[in-house]
Amino acid sequence: MEKQNVHYSQLGLVNTKAIFEKAMAGKYAIPAYNFNNLEQLQAIITACADTNSPVIIQVSKGARNYANETMLRFMAMGAVRMAREMGSNIPICLHLDHGDSYDLCVSCIESGFSSVMIDGSHLPYDENVALTKKVVEYAHQFDVSVEGELGVLAGIEDEVAAEHSTYTKPEQVEDFVKKTGVDSLAISIGTSHGAYKFKLKPGESVPPLRFDILDECEKRIPGFPIVLHGASSIVQEYVVMINSYGGKMDGAVGVPEEQLRQAAASAVCKINIDSDGRLAFTAKIRECFAKDPKEFDPRKYLGEARKELVKLIRHKNEAVLGSAGKA
Ligand code: G3H
Ligand code: 13P
Ligand code: ZN
Repeated sequence: MEKQNVHYSQLGLVNTKAIFEKAMAGKYAIPAYNFNNLEQLQAIITACADTNSPVIIQVSKGARNYANETMLRFMAMGAVRMAREMGSNIPICLHLDHGDSYDLCVSCIESGFSSVMIDGSHLPYDENVALTKKVVEYAHQFDVSVEGELGVLAGIEDEVAAEHSTYTKPEQVEDFVKKTGVDSLAISIGTSHGAYKFKLKPGESVPPLRFDILDECEKRIPGFPIVLHGASSIVQEYVVMINSYGGKMDGAVGVPEEQLRQAAASAVCKINIDSDGRLAFTAKIRECFAKDPKEFDPRKYLGEARKELVKLIRHKNEAVLGSAGKA
């Protein structure tokens, strides 16, 4: 059977244009939550509909391989329907997270994504510009938004790996945005992917993000949407739970909420959160198994995990990103 192309508008999705404009004017950030499975997506939609928050549901290359691209498209379509049937009209954007090639971006656009990231941040500057521009030229024909990246975040995920981080050079941002035509720009100001964002010695606290670099970027591209990756707080309550139920995540630490509030009130329009959701999920599943070793119905332990994820996302929207009530 042949793969069918579909435009995102047919799935009831939106691109990032209007939601970023509103977020910039209202000094809040749109949450971008990663998902790989049904329960994560249900939790994101439930919490965002409950809090009346616009949302970006995002899929990495690894998630796409895990869940199957066609399945994902129908899940996104189902997510929109589910929100509407809940009586909610929240804008939902389906975004490719860390696209690493032109072909992957094209394939996502063909299968109904309303926004793609082309991550050329590890490439030499001119190659990053050329690749990003090529994706923008294709995507804009279909009114699909494109996120580019300048500067490299540290940290290792399945498909997103960087040994060494480099902060974004503010002197490059204006030229990059002008030459590529991107709709938003991810920058590197001290965050990193995953659960171990900072190596702290006993008694040390998390160092502040480089807000000076963010300010410099903002000055050079005023009013332009900036994206913050690696923005999980690594909620300690979950780390403690995981460790107390047999896990081993010593030293897991993330970005304090106060710093994320500061970022959300600036030109940062999109805040990416994956690891905190993974932690909430894992903590609850471990708790379920520890409390009831006889349990083997996935609906029981995944149901508890989903409930916890709803709680976490509600909190993020209401108390950290400021997106609650802004749909
Ligand atoms: O930034 C990376 C996201 O957390 C996705 O991670 O490649 O393991 O799906 P993943
Ligand atoms: P975290 O690992 O901090 O959740 O970051 C996720 C991310 O940046 C996805 O692109
Ligand atoms: Zn990222």
